[in-house]
Amino acid sequence: MLDIEMSYDGQPIDYSLVADILRRVGMAYFTPMEHQRAFAASFATVFVLHKGEMIGFGRALSDGVYQAALYDVAVLPEYQGQGIGSLIVHSLLEKLPQCNVILYAAPGKEAFYTSLGFRRMKTGMALFTQKERMAEKGFTE
Ligand SMILES: CC(C)(COP(=O)(O)OP(=O)(O)OC[C@H]1O[C@@H](n2cnc3c(N)ncnc32)[C@H](O)[C@@H]1OP(=O)(O)O)[C@@H](O)C(=O)NCCC(=O)NCCS
Repeated sequence: MLDIEMSYDGQPIDYSLVADILRRVGMAYFTPMEHQRAFAASFATVFVLHKGEMIGFGRALSDGVYQAALYDVAVLPEYQGQGIGSLIVHSLLEKLPQCNVILYAAPGKEAFYTSLGFRRMKTGMALFTQKERMAEKGFTE
């Protein structure tokens, strides 16, 4: 395993790198200020650093009692497949004891979450802002 550092809520973060990493892995990305607001409003966040450089992150929305959802779980392509994604998800789950945790996987990434104990939902429903785009990308029927 790589020599990495974990950084949790409240540490100073360069959100232009967050946008850049999301773009590089093919996920939805916004302006640095929008990411800053989204992470600041999250219940739990985690960033992974290698030699001081951000290489991955994730965040959870939650009431902190019994419901939670994971978003923006991403690892830079050159660091994928080394257990970092699992570490991010486990770190977030540790902060969500007793919670039901939901998420929607990027199409093709379901096996990653299955390996972490998640199961496919049969009745998941979504009201996306970009309905047609999300259908084209394979998120909705
Ligand atoms: C999905 C992602 C976060 C996984 O991170 P990672 O660091 O590569 O994952 P890990 O190395 O911790 O892999 C954990 C397990 O999931 C499996 N896995 C990882 N990516 C997978 C994939 N694309 N398809 C199938 N299995 C996958 C691994 O084989 C491993 O299984 P094992 O524990 O049985 O060996 C990362 O590939 C990524 O950022 N992808 C692009 C962004 C994305 O799609 N994020 C998810 C949004 S829902």
